[in-house]
Amino acid sequence: MPKLPAPPLPAPLKTPPPLPGQGNGEAGPLEDAKQAGITVVDWVDERTSLSGAARWLMFRKVPKGTNWFYTLGSATMFAFLNQVVTGVFLAMYYRPEPAGGAYESVRYITNEVFLGQFVRGMHKWGSSVMVVLVFLHMGRTFFFGAYKYPRELNWVIGVVLLILTMVMAFTGYLLPFDQRAFWATTVGVNINGTGPLIGPYLSDFLYGGTEFNATTLSRFYAIHMLIVPGLIAALIGAHLYLVAKLGTTAPPWQKLHKRHELIETEV
Ligand code: HEM
Repeated sequence: MPKLPAPPLPAPLKTPPPLPGQGNGEAGPLEDAKQAGITVVDWVDERTSLSGAARWLMFRKVPKGTNWFYTLGSATMFAFLNQVVTGVFLAMYYRPEPAGGAYESVRYITNEVFLGQFVRGMHKWGSSVMVVLVFLHMGRTFFFGAYKYPRELNWVIGVVLLILTMVMAFTGYLLPFDQRAFWATTVGVNINGTGPLIGPYLSDFLYGGTEFNATTLSRFYAIHMLIVPGLIAALIGAHLYLVAKLGTTAPPWQKLHKRHELIETEV
């Protein structure tokens, strides 16, 4: 015999919902705080529908065999964010003046500013970390064949990101404006000048003239802290959009494994 569903409760036995302003009588401050958070998020979401975009970006399927090597892209991104945050604090004290100001302001940051040496160290070592990570990430995508269809455009964006990362490292090297920074930059720009076709124009652009002059330092500073970080941030956005849209590549051995399975079933 099929069991009949229980009849609904008569209305007087049901607990009525609380009247507006009455609450449910049990909520403590913690519950109130949670509700406030949810209300704010709901309020924003009702007006923007951003939760859909966040779900699309973050709740994705990842291929079988995804491993630690897939974290190198995010690690590079966090190295970049570290550069942005520490760079902002350094910019509060740095002065791009060639006649002693730049060198003196860096000395001041290192020796006088509260946590200055720490923040400068984070920025200096962070730059090397970012360069190493970007190469490791590129190696991962290359060896896993992630540059192939349909991800060619993401590879090309990656190449531009790699060049921009190198530009950041090169332009940042001049900023302490000590002897090493000056001469290393002179050598670097001269090497640029020997490049075919655009080489001489590039070195004239970097110097802001035909040789190192009073405007060179501020030019490097503008490239280092405005132009290139802006471009990198925009390109990381495009890069991540494509990663979310196309998904990540399965490791090559995973594909091999699948091919064997296919062959076996076909046989
Ligand atoms: C600032 C530099 C970069 C950042 C922040 C960055 C970030 C990321 C992130 C977070 C991912 C997804 C997770 C992963 O696969 O690791 C990714 C994927 C990818 N990146 Fe980068 N990336 C950068 C530079 C590069 C470079 C230099 C290349 C190659 C020239 C590149 C090519 C790719 C490709 C092809 C994918 C797709 C991987 C797949 O489908 O499995 N990226 N990137």
